[in-house]
Amino acid sequence: MNTDVLQKRIRLPELREKVTSPEAAAEYIKDGMKVGMSGFTLAGSVKSVPHAIVKRAATHPLKISVVTGASLGNDVDSAMANAGIMSKRAPFQTDRTLRNAINRGEVMYVDNHLSETGEQLRKQQVKKVDVAILEAVSITENGEIIPTASVGNNEIFAETADKVIIELNLSYPLEMEGAHDIYCATHFPTAVPINIMKPSDRAGSIGIRIPPEKIAAIVITDEMDTPSQNLPPDAETAQIAGHLIEFFKNEIKQGRLTESLRPLQAGIGTIANAVMSGLKTGPFKHLTMYSEVMQDSTFELIDAGMMDFAAATAITLSDQKSREVFGNFAKYKDHILLRPQRISNHPEVVQRLGLITINTALEVDIYGHVNSTHVMGTHMMNGIGGSGDFTHNAHTAIFVTKSVAKDGLISSIVPMVPHVDHTEHDVDILVTEVGLADLRGLAPRERAQAIINNCVQGEYKTMLQEYVAEANLRGGQTPHVLEKALSWHQRLYETGSMKDEVKLTQVA
Ligand code: COA
Repeated sequence: MNTDVLQKRIRLPELREKVTSPEAAAEYIKDGMKVGMSGFTLAGSVKSVPHAIVKRAATHPLKISVVTGASLGNDVDSAMANAGIMSKRAPFQTDRTLRNAINRGEVMYVDNHLSETGEQLRKQQVKKVDVAILEAVSITENGEIIPTASVGNNEIFAETADKVIIELNLSYPLEMEGAHDIYCATHFPTAVPINIMKPSDRAGSIGIRIPPEKIAAIVITDEMDTPSQNLPPDAETAQIAGHLIEFFKNEIKQGRLTESLRPLQAGIGTIANAVMSGLKTGPFKHLTMYSEVMQDSTFELIDAGMMDFAAATAITLSDQKSREVFGNFAKYKDHILLRPQRISNHPEVVQRLGLITINTALEVDIYGHVNSTHVMGTHMMNGIGGSGDFTHNAHTAIFVTKSVAKDGLISSIVPMVPHVDHTEHDVDILVTEVGLADLRGLAPRERAQAIINNCVQGEYKTMLQEYVAEANLRGGQTPHVLEKALSWHQRLYETGSMKDEVKLTQVA
């Protein structure tokens, strides 16, 4: 490798001697170890060493427990799942192969709140990390490790692991130095407030500080992260964005918000990204973001001059946007900061900044309990991610979802959700393409009316009205017809649809 590039990327001379092959680095990983890997919603994911571990496992069988920031890209999660080398995985994933292995019970999956995974490691409430494998842009003359497109739990893995392996990724620009703010929260009983009063405040250093002798190996790579798979906005996501814009306009009119709103948090996925993108059509100025992930929509809002600053723990972009942003990083550097996920999702900071949080539900029940994770209450989709960290502590907690899924065979609004990630106590606003239900200050019976009247249409609306009428006759603070509460899911299981064909035939 070009010595000039190596000198610029590894500025502490003695560390240059640690450069080795992925295969040699993989030998540090032994059976039974817990391995911390960088990567958050596909961004900043380690790439070559995990694949070398998988290859080695063909001749040296092993099982490891893998803990990350969030989902890994570059087929790392699927390669490890296919090879059957993962006994345990935490705290978030979005990979179909891994998801299937989890749902077959082959991989034990720990679905933590993302702000808590690292904290449990630090407090030694869970088994420590043996080896950390972290992607980096560079290592400074002081030995600070500069992460790439995500920070995630990297600083905690580096601090708590016995050994650290670095994947130095040359495809990320060196200008990324200075785009990170690595602050390690202090601990009980001497914890002090985190000094972040607005999204752009810096609290820590530009890189991760560990004793350089902890670095066991450095591997050079040049592969970009897997691009995000978000679908483009469609008519329904545009309608959801439209309802939200009207809601925000009214909040401004009532004097509860200004045209810069509050710092925004938006969840991962197609819907949240499309909704954020839709805000471009609203009358907003000087928006800021304090979130977990910057998606394409973040940079669209910055480019449109509507967003001044965005802080998160990861930058997850489509292929095209990734080329624009990382190919022209200087343009964005003063507008963004990447923080550890412990800080981007920290309840204290989320509360103090007063965030408007926008996350996506798989399904919601008539009282506003949200299921974000478990299809049919049993099968893991992705995980709770940071949605709990943000929702519970938000200024205004918003959930969005299309009113139906799978071409209308599934209603996203159901009598009772079979798994609860966010309780009715935390959910302020629900938006579907049909409309918006403002649940603030409403009792459960009122919440049910607001949700059914505003967020559902067609036959599912009639079915929910009938359900509520019957439930109300039975009484209670939160009325239910217990034997029918999960009947929609049962029908879906048996017939492939939540529609009540018997009733429909009777009507016809
Ligand atoms: N029952 C079963 N499947 C459903 C469903 C329901 N009620 N609602 C949606 N789905 C399916 C969709 O059909 C789609 O399936 P496909 O992948 O086979 O096409 C899949 O779920 C994703 O739904 P989509 O409508 O494309 O939405 P999305 O990409 O915005 O993802 C979540 C939605 C809920 C899966 C995603 O936002 C998530 O994992 N959230 C939890 C984590 C989180 O909120 N993190 C935010 C903090 S950053």
